Amino acid sequence: MTSPETPLPGGDVTDGIVRVGDTVRRPLGPHSPLVHAVLGHLERQGFDGAPRFLGVDDQGREILSFIEGEVAGRPHPAWLADEHRLVSLARLVRRLDDAMAGFAPSSAMLEAVAAPDIPGMPAAPEAEPEFVGHLDITPENVVFRDGKAAALIDFDLAKPATRVDEVFNLCLWWAPFGPDEDRSEPLRGVDSAARTRLIADAYGLAAVDRARLVPTAIRRTERSWFLMKYRAEHDGGGWLRMWRDGAGERIRRRLAWLEAERGRLAGALG
Ligand SMILES: Nc1ncnc2c1ncn2[C@@H]1O[C@H](COP(=O)(O)OP(=O)(O)OP(=O)(O)O)[C@@H](O)[C@H]1O
Ligand SMILES: [Mg+2]
Repeated sequence: MTSPETPLPGGDVTDGIVRVGDTVRRPLGPHSPLVHAVLGHLERQGFDGAPRFLGVDDQGREILSFIEGEVAGRPHPAWLADEHRLVSLARLVRRLDDAMAGFAPSSAMLEAVAAPDIPGMPAAPEAEPEFVGHLDITPENVVFRDGKAAALIDFDLAKPATRVDEVFNLCLWWAPFGPDEDRSEPLRGVDSAARTRLIADAYGLAAVDRARLVPTAIRRTERSWFLMKYRAEHDGGGWLRMWRDGAGERIRRRLAWLEAERGRLAGALG
């Protein structure tokens, strides 16, 4: 007997994600070998905050374990602003990044996810990557249980990263970094600098890395304008939808917000 397929609405990029019994089926892509290796490594480490990779089905889709819990949908729930959840999430991400230590992906896996060279795009921050990071810690990609972050899902954007890159990504979605007009209702008016401090403390970000957080955020945001435009032009699909929907303008507003808030953010980071 085969279980019915239930569509899983989620983020913006991947179409055709379904739940089948206690599994999730997702389309494969060039990034998939790296993602499967990451999930296999996490399983061997005994890390419980990620789906298990269970193989590929006869339709050529990856099979992942379904993780029970609460995931923010649209419209975003009020609990997105909850500071206890925020702290638990930053701790979970720290555990994830620590569990990734010692994972050595092949060069083919890394080549498949390397950022393209785009004319005019500023260079990435110079720091050496420390591990393969998740780097897409959106509200839709975190499973909560009993009011605490229990798991991260959707490792499609995993790439070599520094702790600063990973914490920047957390702050981007959860501080969040950007003006009120681009935030969902529950995050309008929250104190982003105070939440950045909570994230850095709960993650255990070192002093040297705290000093790098805002410059890294600015550089990564500048690059993201070029990368999103490139994805929209080359990959189409959800990337093109997001670009047409004003993603480029949102990135520019985020950059202006970061420049305006950099003093307050740096002050809060200590
Ligand atoms: N392994 C899982 N366990 C529990 N829920 C899941 C799992 N995988 C996906 N989901 C649910 O399905 C939604 C969409 O899945 P996922 O995040 O993998 O894809 P997506 O967000 O559509 O893709 P992208 O982020 O690339 O645009 C998630 O927000 C979550 O609610
Ligand atoms: Mg997602």
